[in-house]
Amino acid sequence: MNHKTLIAPSVLSADFSRLGDEVEDIISAGADWVHLDVMDGHFVPNITFGPQIIKSIRNRTRAIFDCHLMIAPADQYLAAFADAGCDIITVHAEAGPHLDRSLQAIRNLGKKAGVSLNPSTPESVIEYVLDRLDLVLLMTVNPGFGGQAFIPSVVEKVGRVKSMIGKRPIHIEIDGGVTPDTAPLVAAAGADVLVAGSAVFKGNGKAAYADNIAAIRHAADHARHRAAA
Ligand code: DX5
Ligand code: ZN
Repeated sequence: MNHKTLIAPSVLSADFSRLGDEVEDIISAGADWVHLDVMDGHFVPNITFGPQIIKSIRNRTRAIFDCHLMIAPADQYLAAFADAGCDIITVHAEAGPHLDRSLQAIRNLGKKAGVSLNPSTPESVIEYVLDRLDLVLLMTVNPGFGGQAFIPSVVEKVGRVKSMIGKRPIHIEIDGGVTPDTAPLVAAAGADVLVAGSAVFKGNGKAAYADNIAAIRHAADHARHRAAA
């Protein structure tokens, strides 16, 4: 995809007591999407929030709600996340035995469908569902917590997924440990959407968030242009 790098701040690092305001602030600070990390304490060792909280902040922005479901099983909750106002719903390939069915269900709800792969999961699991995908989310940390260190071995997987996708209009999104230092590695390999939690929400308020978002975007765009040249 040939647009500028999209930045999707993860609200996992936001101040939850002011979640609606934080969402408004990141969007006015230049964020493109709002990344929503849903965790169930079963698929991942942490618990966050569900559709009710997402619904409560839906009216604070028109920006795309990018919902990352770290829950197993996921299928029985897809309609609730669609109703809550998620635009993209991403399930983990490791979270259920019927990835094809989950992706069909998301599209049948009228939403964009994504699949996420843990760092240790090979990209071959998406080979036969490419035509059902709008987004591939490659984890560059083991999911569950913000603020973890980027796992560099995933960079090679980004390049492989880019080749598999070919000309299909599928986003490659990276999640975990994204900073202005790591963003160029994945951007040069083919990622076009970057999730960042701790690197966006550091500092106090809108002005700091704007600087943080701009620094990540600038580093990534620069690397993409260099790689394309
Ligand atoms: C991890 C989540 C990420 C995480 C990113 O399970 O999916 O979205 O919050 O946080 P940072 O950018 O701090 O690694
Ligand atoms: Zn995430």
